[in-house]
Amino acid sequence: MKKKVVSLLIAAMTVASLTACGNSNSDTPAANPAPAPAETPAADPEPAPAESEAPAPEEGEAEAPAPAADGEVISVGFAQVGHESDWRAANTKNYQDTFSAANGYELSFVDCDNDHAVQIETVRGFIEQELDYICIAPIQSAGWDTVLQEAKDAGIPVLIVDRAVDADPSLYTTALGCDMVAEGEAAGNWLAEYLNGEDANILVIEGSVGASATLGRTEGFNNIVAQNSNWKVLDSQSGDFTQAGGQEVMESFIKSYSDFNVVVCQNDNEAYGAMDAMDAAGITYGVDGDVTIISFDATHDGLQYTLDGKITCNVECNPLQAGFAEEVIQKLQAGEAVDAWTLVVDEAFVAPGITSSYAVTMSQEVLDGRAY
Ligand code: AHR
Repeated sequence: MKKKVVSLLIAAMTVASLTACGNSNSDTPAANPAPAPAETPAADPEPAPAESEAPAPEEGEAEAPAPAADGEVISVGFAQVGHESDWRAANTKNYQDTFSAANGYELSFVDCDNDHAVQIETVRGFIEQELDYICIAPIQSAGWDTVLQEAKDAGIPVLIVDRAVDADPSLYTTALGCDMVAEGEAAGNWLAEYLNGEDANILVIEGSVGASATLGRTEGFNNIVAQNSNWKVLDSQSGDFTQAGGQEVMESFIKSYSDFNVVVCQNDNEAYGAMDAMDAAGITYGVDGDVTIISFDATHDGLQYTLDGKITCNVECNPLQAGFAEEVIQKLQAGEAVDAWTLVVDEAFVAPGITSSYAVTMSQEVLDGRAY
């Protein structure tokens, strides 16, 4: 059994599970991956492993960790970004469902509430607890070297999930997630196709400052802006990936700019806030309005707005990534090598009546198939 150390540093956080567990493979060395590209993965995409179908316990039934075939329970710490968006909620649920006691895991889940310092201390807490594996969804991409070195020194494999870090890839075991630059480029390419030569005066509501999702989507979209001399980005401000942030930024844009025809929101929640602000100001948007809205995430509600023609293009970022993390952990448990990078593939969706070589045209059937 591993020594259990409850870290007072993280006592104020949401820790779903803090019980010690069997030592599954404390000697598993951190894999030594080839440098993983920060945002432009070269590896071929792999299909998402099927979600676990382990039966939920009856009400009142204790959910004791089910040991794996070799009798060991695997402890996993997950330092999650926060709860800023519907995407994040779906991602959290996916990890909790996958790394469940019924599946043989002891998950220590911490919601870091978008605070980088809290996230670093959370990872330190996991190291102190000698957990078997650590998953980190980095709030920001910079500032990870020291704590990653500490995890490596402790021999704990680290999975960088969802977003990327700037650190030397030799400091962590593997990284997985969507290609944020490609998402930004998909949005730009679709817009070029849709506008077909028309001018664009663009306002951008970015995600959280310093997050690779923000940096990548901005870089990708700007790559396409640079190819269109009649496009102008009038302004680009952070809405922190929240609905309130999106509304606040849009309200201030409306005060400063009277002539814009495209609003790019770097996630669905920001788009909801931007639509509220435009509704209040009497600005029309969508396929029948004056302003074209592009969003990212393609969550269920975001796709409902796309089906309704309010969001014209919605670029997916798939939050169901825990299966990929589990696959990595199972390979490491078996002593197998793991890839330095796993790409989670996504696609884009456009409002009904639009056909695109970059996106799928929305339908009720597509919406019905969207689980998050
Ligand atoms: O890192 C993924 C991004 O983070 C999603 O687009 C956003 O909704 C979340 O907050």
